[in-house]
Amino acid sequence: MTSASRSDGAAIGSIALVGAGPGDIDLLTLRAVERLRAADVILYDDLAGDALLSFAREDAELIAVGKRAGHPSPKQDELNRLMISYAKLGKRVVRVKAGDPAIFARADEEICAARDAGVPIEIVPGITTATAAAAFLGTSLTKRLVARRVQMVTGHDVGGTLPIDLDIAALADPGATTCVFMGKATFPALAEKLIAKGLSGETPTVVVESLGTPNTHVLAGTLSEIAAQLAVEKPQGPCLILYGQALAGAGRGLA
Ligand SMILES: C[S@@+](CC[C@H](N)C(=O)[O-])C[C@H]1O[C@@H](n2cnc3c(N)ncnc32)[C@H](O)[C@@H]1O
Repeated sequence: MTSASRSDGAAIGSIALVGAGPGDIDLLTLRAVERLRAADVILYDDLAGDALLSFAREDAELIAVGKRAGHPSPKQDELNRLMISYAKLGKRVVRVKAGDPAIFARADEEICAARDAGVPIEIVPGITTATAAAAFLGTSLTKRLVARRVQMVTGHDVGGTLPIDLDIAALADPGATTCVFMGKATFPALAEKLIAKGLSGETPTVVVESLGTPNTHVLAGTLSEIAAQLAVEKPQGPCLILYGQALAGAGRGLA
């Protein structure tokens, strides 16, 4: 990435938001590996997994910035300040993000903060959990004449509840495949709204928990069954929930 200099002529560093993909190290991009190898400072969290730290230089500074629902984590503006302060010391900063940095990863806030501070920032895309889950399930998210649309939605607003302004009619589209991020706690409430809007309770639904880790676990069933199961069971790992006719038969037989 291009370097920049301050008005006093001192070099300033850079920030790269690097997509870690679903956790499997061989699903990192070559560019991600390059940025990790070149980094002076790497900020990472538990969702991104730490296997990729094997690419860090021995003298790189590794900073854990845990971000998991229900656990204490640094505030976004503290993280922004941290990245910017390292970059202003001339460091190449890598901020690792699970999946793709452009999907539910608050990359927009980091990009704005870096631009406001005059620090060069780039995004290195990664494989989002949605497509990694489809690959794991051996299915396609689109299906000719059956699923002509894919939508990604968060099931979690700033307070951790189901966002009140979700477009339920769009989410109840039987011709779409819907991927719900951060939705394991609110899915029972969402499913109730979907069914009330006309989506069949028989719609194929799959939960993929802790993808890309040795603890990967899959629940497959119908919308009604999965909603009822999630209301009782409380999966501990991060979960992606997918529903729609393209998921018919997907995940059956996978533990
Ligand atoms: C903050 S979002 C990050 C999404 C990420 N940028 C992506 O493209 O996949 C976190 C949510 O992504 C999903 N997620 C991330 N990693 C996951 C994993 N290993 N297994 C299942 N779901 C995961 C879960 O829905 C989790 O609550």
